[in-house]
Amino acid sequence: MIRMISLAQLNAASADEFVAALAGIFEHSPWVAEAVLPLRPFASRLQLHEAMCAAVDAADIDAQLKLIRAHPELAGRAAVRRELTAESTREQRGAGLDACTPGEFAMLQTLNDAYNHKFGFPFVLAVRGHNRGSVIAAFMQRLDHDLDTERKMALQQIDRIAGFRLHDCVSSPAGSESLALLDRLAQYSEQPDGLSCSYLSPAHRQTAALIRDWMLAAGLAVEIDAVGNVVGRLYGERSDARTLITGSHYDTVVDGGKYDGRLGIVLPILCALDLRQRGLQLPYNLEIIAFAEEEGVRYKSTFLGSGAVVGQFDPRLLDAVDADGISMRAALLDAGFDPAAIPAIARDPADLLGYVEIHIEQGPVLLDEGQALGVVTSIAGSHRYTGSISGLAGHSGTVPMHLRRDAAVAAAELILYVERRCGGLSQISGLVGTVGRLEVPGGAINVIPGRCNFSLDIRAADDALRDAAVADVLAEIEAIAERRGVEIVLTQVLSAACTPCAPGLQAQWAASISRVTGNPIPRHLPSGAGHDAMKMAAITDIGMLFVRCGNGGISHNPAETMTAEDADVAARVFTDFLLNYSVR
Ligand code: GLV
Ligand code: MN
Ligand code: MN
Repeated sequence: MIRMISLAQLNAASADEFVAALAGIFEHSPWVAEAVLPLRPFASRLQLHEAMCAAVDAADIDAQLKLIRAHPELAGRAAVRRELTAESTREQRGAGLDACTPGEFAMLQTLNDAYNHKFGFPFVLAVRGHNRGSVIAAFMQRLDHDLDTERKMALQQIDRIAGFRLHDCVSSPAGSESLALLDRLAQYSEQPDGLSCSYLSPAHRQTAALIRDWMLAAGLAVEIDAVGNVVGRLYGERSDARTLITGSHYDTVVDGGKYDGRLGIVLPILCALDLRQRGLQLPYNLEIIAFAEEEGVRYKSTFLGSGAVVGQFDPRLLDAVDADGISMRAALLDAGFDPAAIPAIARDPADLLGYVEIHIEQGPVLLDEGQALGVVTSIAGSHRYTGSISGLAGHSGTVPMHLRRDAAVAAAELILYVERRCGGLSQISGLVGTVGRLEVPGGAINVIPGRCNFSLDIRAADDALRDAAVADVLAEIEAIAERRGVEIVLTQVLSAACTPCAPGLQAQWAASISRVTGNPIPRHLPSGAGHDAMKMAAITDIGMLFVRCGNGGISHNPAETMTAEDADVAARVFTDFLLNYSVR
């Protein structure tokens, strides 16, 4: 049994108690805890972990080597003699290293000897999530490295081991912890300041690896599937029970917010950890899926992650190319994924209980009404197109205005029509239309635009209302093309019907909000934004919880924000939801 201590207790403890409580985090090296003592109070477990890792980084090379050498060999002689720390014993057992076959044991001794001989320190690997085969494969691969690389690698693995161990023994409030984790994830970005994380970019792959570690730390069985979804499973009392899925996406729009999508991954992971720390088991299996792609940034195709889970991944997409001409197939292969394995991701609806998603509201309704949480009633349907207008390029100084076939002016006319038809600056029952991308390829100050590319997104909470607007916009496009002598080619990239949330799940969310907050009549509201839940509705019941968005409700913008208090109450509501979840 592991002794738990809360972050608050650690912050208030005497120096001796603090060092003693963290003695097992870095193998036989209490100096790491001593080094961070003056930095208290820590606002999150993550901050404590990062401070401890920074102390190791700042130590001189001899101290670092001593720390590496304090680690036992994997399945080594000390393990056989039962001389390992309690932490190491547990970790090695978790990877099955206490049950080696004689052949595996002999192989590991040979590898241990060769590694020690080459580098002068033992092979260090955070074995959580590993099995004997993958430990041996990692061992063999790392034997080829040079000394400097392996020293850095050993320290990285020691950082990860410390992270896992801290999750095992330190509890911390989900609100501040989740915001710390979301800040940490936002450090992986394709742009130096601001957050852009598009499908299979280096930032995206680093994000997936960190989410995987946090899921492992929460005690989940984790795999990254062939489309890049990070899937964590918390097995219930009976492993053959059906599964409730929760999750959201970890990709972002360009220069997006830190909470969109990721909140619905990080909060459930912390709730799962809390259940484990409290020794509670659910009567069903819970899966947390961090969907690889929802925003459609890199390949202009949305819901790649949840689409694969519901069996709707279109293999023709593998030939789509990004702005640099890299096909999706090539990007997947480069990241180590097997595109041929994507169809097998599809789930059998008979195994599922439902899908629930926690998401920041991305609008001002809850904020304006002073409510932290809301139950989503339905998700607006969306029709999306990409379009290209071909006119005639010409000299901006010589072609008279009445003889021009200007592609950009045609686009401008279309944009103004979309705005008018969708209600102008007044609001018609949730109908919205947006031209979000607009470009004149190769445009120049003295050239009449011969080409203009654009996107079009029309949504409403009511399919008939949206379809009528779409029909009018399509008719107007034809009229503009005719009038201006340009050609307009339109390709539909998304057609999503308005998706209702299951009444039973709405009722269960509402009951949890009432139990946790005391509010007898929780706010119910529709979602204008699209969510993975829309896709998941193809195979199971869906339900969503919205969390208040700060800063006027702004989203898809770096100014997107929320509070630790709201994250905390959302986590308590989700835990209540899980513990009281009833199968209907
Ligand atoms: C997803 O963020 C959307 O476009 O609604
Ligand atoms: Mn989004
Ligand atoms: Mn989102």
